[in-house]
Parts: sequence; C-alpha cells; structure tokens
Amino acid sequence: MSRVAIIGAGPSGLAVLRAFESARQQGADIPELVCYERQADWGGLWNYTWRTGLDQHGEPVHGSMYRYLWSNGPKECLEFADYSFEAHFGRPIPSYPPRAVLQHYIAGRVERAGVRCHVRFNTMVKRVTCSADSPRFTVSVRDLLTDAHSTEEFDYVINASGHFSTPNVPDFPGLELFPGRVLHAHDFRDACEFAGKDLLVIGASYSAEDIGIQCHKYGAKSVTFSYRTRPMGFAWPDGCTERPLLTKVVGRTAHFRDGSTREVDAIVLCTGYLHHYPWLPDDLRLGGRNRLYPPGLYKGIFWDALPGLMYIGAQDQYYTFNMFDAQAWYARDVVLGRIALPDAAVRQADIAKWVSREEAVTDAFDAIDYQTGYVRELLDATDYPPLDVDHVAQLFKEWEHHKMENILTYRDRSYPSVLTGTRAPPHHTVWMQALDDSLDAFLATPATS
Ligand SMILES: Cc1cc2nc3c(=O)[nH]c(=O)nc-3n(C[C@H](O)[C@H](O)[C@H](O)COP(=O)(O)OP(=O)(O)OC[C@H]3O[C@@H](n4cnc5c(N)ncnc54)[C@H](O)[C@@H]3O)c2cc1C
Ligand SMILES: NC(=O)c1ccc[n+]([C@@H]2O[C@H](COP(=O)([O-])OP(=O)(O)OC[C@H]3O[C@@H](n4cnc5c(N)ncnc54)[C@H](OP(=O)(O)O)[C@@H]3O)[C@@H](O)[C@H]2O)c1
Repeated sequence: MSRVAIIGAGPSGLAVLRAFESARQQGADIPELVCYERQADWGGLWNYTWRTGLDQHGEPVHGSMYRYLWSNGPKECLEFADYSFEAHFGRPIPSYPPRAVLQHYIAGRVERAGVRCHVRFNTMVKRVTCSADSPRFTVSVRDLLTDAHSTEEFDYVINASGHFSTPNVPDFPGLELFPGRVLHAHDFRDACEFAGKDLLVIGASYSAEDIGIQCHKYGAKSVTFSYRTRPMGFAWPDGCTERPLLTKVVGRTAHFRDGSTREVDAIVLCTGYLHHYPWLPDDLRLGGRNRLYPPGLYKGIFWDALPGLMYIGAQDQYYTFNMFDAQAWYARDVVLGRIALPDAAVRQADIAKWVSREEAVTDAFDAIDYQTGYVRELLDATDYPPLDVDHVAQLFKEWEHHKMENILTYRDRSYPSVLTGTRAPPHHTVWMQALDDSLDAFLATPATS
C-alpha cells in the first residue's frame, strides 16, 4: 500500500483527508494517510490562539487570526459542495459569520467523515528529504509533547501548511526609536488594545482593511492607512484616512511620501506574509510573492520537477475552502491513478499558459474570473459534487460592489446559497454593533417583542 504524508490539518489538509475518505466510501482502495499537525487540534488558522511569538514548545506560533474576526467574504462563496451550512447548522445562517462559526463548520464536516484517526496532533514536520536514487520521501518530525524525533517514509508528500503565518516585516527609518507599539498583523490579537489611540496601519490589502476597520469599530481615535502601490479607495468613515507610503518616523510623527505628517500612538504592519517551508529542501521549496498562480506548480498543485510533492492552498485566495477541495480531489485522483500526469513539456506549457493569463489580470473582477476558471478546470476533472462556480463568481462581484459602497455595512448583506438556493437571513445585529463574536451570540435567535 502506498503512503501519503499530509503536512497540516487546516482547511487544505482536511480537504485532502475528506477527498480520500469520499473515495473510500465509494469502494476505492486508498493509501495509508498520515496527516501531521503541529497544533493540538485541527482547523488551521481558524483555531484561534492568544499566543504570539514562540509557542509553548519554542516553535513560531502558526496562528494569525485575532479576536472579533468575521469572515471578510460571504460564506456562500466558500461553502463546501458536499456539506452545506444549512446541513451543518440545521437552518440557514447569516452570510458573514465570525471565526468561531466557520471553525465549527470546517470541523463538523471532517468529524462526520470520521477522519481524525489519520491526524497526528502536536507533531511538527521538521524535514522532508528525497534522494536521487529513490522515489520515496523521508519525513522527519518532532513530537512536541515528548520532544522525540522520528522519521517515516512516504510515496507522496502533500504540503498543506498554509502561507499566511510567517510575517513579511519591512523596516522603516525611525521605527527603532518609536515610543509606541509596533507589530505585524500576525501578532495582532485584540483591537481593544488600541481604543482611544491614533493608529497607523501600513499595507493596502485585506489585513490592513480589516484590522484598521476593526480598530475603528472597537474605539480607536483615528486610523491612518498607508499604501505602497495604490490606495484601497473605500469611502472611509470619519476618523479613517489613506496616505501614501510611510517614509520615516520621527518620535511619534509619521512622515509620508506626499510630505504630509501625522502623530500616531501605534503602528500595525499589515504587509503580508512569506512562503516559508523550512522543512523542505531548497529545490522543492515554493517561494516568491503571494499570487494567484505560483509558477512551478502544475495545476497550481504539483511541484513540477517532482510531482510526488504537492501543495494545496498555496495561491492567493478569493476562493478558499471549496478551491482547496477542488485541489484535494484532483491530487487524490492523481495518487489513485485516476488522472495521469502528462509529461514535463506538457506540464510546463500548461503552467506557462496560466502564468501568462495571470499576468493579464488588471483588477479584482479579472482576478475573480481568473480563479473561477482555475477552479472550474480542476472540478471538471473529478467527481467533486456539482458547484456552480459562475454563480460563486457573481456573488464575489456583488461582494466587491457592496464593499465599495460601504466598508462598514457590507457584512450586513445576505446572499443565496449556491447549493441550496436559500437566501441567508439577516444577522440579528448589524456588524458595527455586533461586539460579541462568539458562536452562541451569532446563532442566538433575536428576541421578539
Ligand atoms: C487573518 C486571516 C484571516 C482570514 N480570513 C479569511 C476569511 O474570512 N475567509 C476565508 O475564506 N479565508 C480567510 N483567510 C484565508 C486562510 O488562508 C484560509 O481560510 C485557510 O485557513 C487556509 O487553509 P490552509 O489549510 O491552507 O492553511 P492554515 O489555515 O494556515 O492551516 C495550515 C495548518 O498546517 C499546520 N502546520 C504548518 N506547518 C506545519 C508543520 N511543519 N508541521 C505540521 N503542521 C504544520 C498549521 O498548524 C495549520 O494547522 C484568512 C487568513 C488570515 C491570515
Ligand atoms: N477578516 C478576514 O477575513 C481577513 C482579515 C485579514 C486577512 N485576511 C486574509 O489574509 C490573507 C492575507 O492578506 P494580507 O492583507 O495580510 O496580505 P496580502 O493580501 O498579501 O497583502 C499584502 C499587503 O502588504 C503590502 N506590502 C508588502 N510589502 C510592503 C512594504 N515593504 N511596504 C508597504 N506595503 C507592503 C502590499 O502592498 P502592495 O499592494 O504594494 O504590494 C499589500 O497591500 C488574505 O487571504 C486575506 O483574505 C482575512
């Protein structure tokens, strides 16, 4: 029997376990699966930790999620095609759930599938090697509870370790003497810390927008966003403004490229994340920037020079959970021999086609269409349950419009499920007033008068 190592039991690794289990339930012989997860439970980033810096085992903390985080896209765009929100919660729920609700949904599917037996928790992959004279991989791990190291051999390695965990931390002149707190988004945990403060947020993508607006919601005195390439351009509420890139900090005074200045109390670097897989050898390790199609991965999954190594979820993400499923089902079918990989020349031509199409993407709508096409191509090749990706793309575009209309109220919108057609009910409390992000508060039935 062949053996498959899966690194990480976040949404990507769990998609792989679910894909194999679905084949097994239909009568397929599946390989032995070993999923290594360094945390004590599954769910990846959705498994919140208060910790920052190093964890209790002396390893860098994986978690980048923070308290009061609500989904930044409609749940209808990420719904698993084989497990609707309605089926999980027993009734329709609003479109923008907080973190704990999504964690519950992710875990519910795999608990029901009975795949926990494949996961070795508290076990961190430290090294993967592959010698020229053997097609097998040697995986070395550290049991974090006993501090014991061990190695095992595998025919395939699926790297599903996530890539929003190792912060990209630029430097700016004067930060070393700044009298307030400077942190990266990876270490941000609680917006209440910044109540009453003048905050500077560097970056112009999802973390900047969400952390800045969340601090506004929880009482920051002002939020100044500083962009490198282009402003986010939302209709910001009073107290929030956008400035070009920070050039230096002198005392508490932030100086920007347009010559303007601003007094600030704290600085959050929302400057993105690095691909960081130190356990992989140099020649098998994905690098580069966060992009829709990382070159080097056939079908966005298979390490072209050694396709027995796969990456799930390594691209920039409009689609998330159902894209990881599409990738997992495809990877599974290659392992099961249901899909034959073409030769290297065909693979490289395919990669070149997707990379050049990505280079033609000019705005968010193009990017949504691009990733829709990518997901569709994977779905068409497997027996993943039907998913109307054109409908998902339309919801993503409505979401973009709603965000541009009002960055504070877009989470109050409702969308229909692509699977069941049911339109989500409105949440009992508008997002700006919803300060309790617990599962119980979110699912509470509003009192009727
Ligand atoms: C702040 C933030 C907010 C986000 N919000 C949303 C959102 O609202 N909606 C959405 O759809 N997506 C969101 N995302 C995107 C997020 O990337 C995906 O939802 C999803 O978590 C990615 O799943 P993953 O399994 O690829 O990675 P992760 O969730 O990062 O999981 C990877 C797993 O691998 C484990 N691991 C890593 N290295 C090792 C190792 N060496 N050995 C063993 N185990 C290892 C980790 O412990 C972790 O459990 C957000 C991301 C961030 C950073
Ligand atoms: N509530 C939520 O659901 C939520 C909240 C936060 C994050 N997320 C998710 O987290 C993931 C990561 O998002 P992200 O925003 O952290 O990363 P990202 O999308 O990769 O964006 C990185 C940002 O950092 C900027 N940047 C990088 N280096 C810089 C430098 N030296 N100086 C100034 N700016 C610099 C980039 O600017 P340029 O544009 O100039 O390149 C870009 O704006 C996304 O999938 C997102 O959906 C979700």
